[in-house]
Amino acid sequence: MASSTNNHLTFLVLLFLFLLQKSPSLATHLSIDGLLPFAPKHVTIFNKLTTRGTLVAHCMNKETDLGIRKLPSGGSFAFRFHVNLRRTTTYNCTFEWPGNRVTFDIFRADRDDSERSPFGVCRECIWYIYEPAPCREKRDGTHSICFSWD
Ligand SMILES: *[C@@H]1O[C@H](CO)[C@@H](O)[C@H](O)[C@H]1NC(C)=O
Repeated sequence: MASSTNNHLTFLVLLFLFLLQKSPSLATHLSIDGLLPFAPKHVTIFNKLTTRGTLVAHCMNKETDLGIRKLPSGGSFAFRFHVNLRRTTTYNCTFEWPGNRVTFDIFRADRDDSERSPFGVCRECIWYIYEPAPCREKRDGTHSICFSWD
């Protein structure tokens, strides 16, 4: 009797988590940024090189290779995903432009999806790639935070 109640509860919890992962809009409505699992994220990367050269971006995580993207000056590309249950989601990128090759973790759950992060949580994570630094725009769009290349 008790174990059948537990089975039902386990089923409902799993169903809820499944629906949350499958339905970005449900997750968006329910999600208080960074507090629920499977937070939806939208990362956009802009070529802001002051030389106005082409930026070649190659981003991936353990499961997904987003391919090689050639971004003209001012151009961008974007991708969506959900943070995993254990909050270990990381996407890294290699950026190349004439004479340079740098790498950077463009998304880290501990930096971009944690209430404890000094940089705050981003759901729309907008990155501007300049020669000296990648900069993430703050949620309110007022100013950006720049990081150093890896
Ligand atoms: C980027 O992540 C992939 C998958 O985790 C890894 O194999 C690769 O070495 C990483 N690249 C860099 C430059 O850290």
